[in-house]
Amino acid sequence: MARTRLLLPLLAATAAAAPAVALDDLNWLSPDADRAVELTTAPAECLAMPGDPEQAWRVSLGQVAFRSPALLGGLAARTGMSCDTCHRNGHGNPAFFIAGVSGAPGTADVTSGIFSQTRGDDTANPVPIPDLTGIAAKASFGTVRPAHDLPGFVHSVMVDEFQGQEPAPAVAEGLVAYVAALTPAACPGEPSMPLTFDHAARELAGTYAVLLATMDRDDRKAADFVLRSLNLALGRLAQRFPAAPEASDALPALGRDLGVIRPLIRDDPDGARSALAAWRVRLDGVLRDLPGREHLFDRKGVERFLAGR
Ligand code: HEC
Repeated sequence: MARTRLLLPLLAATAAAAPAVALDDLNWLSPDADRAVELTTAPAECLAMPGDPEQAWRVSLGQVAFRSPALLGGLAARTGMSCDTCHRNGHGNPAFFIAGVSGAPGTADVTSGIFSQTRGDDTANPVPIPDLTGIAAKASFGTVRPAHDLPGFVHSVMVDEFQGQEPAPAVAEGLVAYVAALTPAACPGEPSMPLTFDHAARELAGTYAVLLATMDRDDRKAADFVLRSLNLALGRLAQRFPAAPEASDALPALGRDLGVIRPLIRDDPDGARSALAAWRVRLDGVLRDLPGREHLFDRKGVERFLAGR
């Protein structure tokens, strides 16, 4: 209790002094949704990870891309959106709502001028966000601008609908491989999963592993993309610790260090590798301290945060 009383004014002060300490994920939550539940749980991903290491790398790279705002451009990227914002863990998102983009919660206008200068059609025609699990076998994708092949549809979503830059070929292929690997047969028993600190830490570790695996394949353009995605994931983690000093100093410092390593990936891969190994040790140190801080991974913490805003 004492902690709660201490934290509340602290959170309020932080929110007033630095509005940057906000949770991106609140930006697209329907006002009707139970926000604390939505922010701390997600539908479980139904991913069949291939046994072949090369295919597994491709799918993992696609998974990073699916969750990365670095894939998209324009407003979507600036506000921290990714494919996963609408298709949570590959499913739909009944709580998704952005005024001017959505009709009913869970719908989006995929030809909205808000996201796209090229695709905007000046008509409000929102449609339900579909679950992507099991869609690979379909003969046609989408209903508003249907396409007959999955790579073609996904490419158009990235580049036309959300104004992303042309991705590295391995990233585009990986994204398609990831979507195609979402299958009902791979759904875990529990349809929902808690979004915990451990989960976020594992995801960071997974993205780091994909970065090294992509560097092993000497794909520097794709590795650059993974590094930027890792940096954005650090920022998202910091948002879950609005009052922790690590979120205002150690995590941003780790992000800046990644910025220093970035050109090495292109010019000096061996140097990048040893700099990344040292960076990883520093990251682990910060991750060890973080769970002791007040955070927004548990429902009560989120409720207090929302009440104090
Ligand atoms: C703003 C929410 C939003 C975002 C972000 C988004 N989608 Fe979608 N997605 C939709 C909606 C809505 C549809 C249905 C469109 C239609 O019916 O034409 C859809 C349809 C699809 C389909 C076709 C599904 C089917 O059954 O035909 C695929 C594949 C897909 N999205 C993949 C992606 C990928 C990959 C990304 C990221 C690059 C992405 N989406 C980002 C909302 C979104």
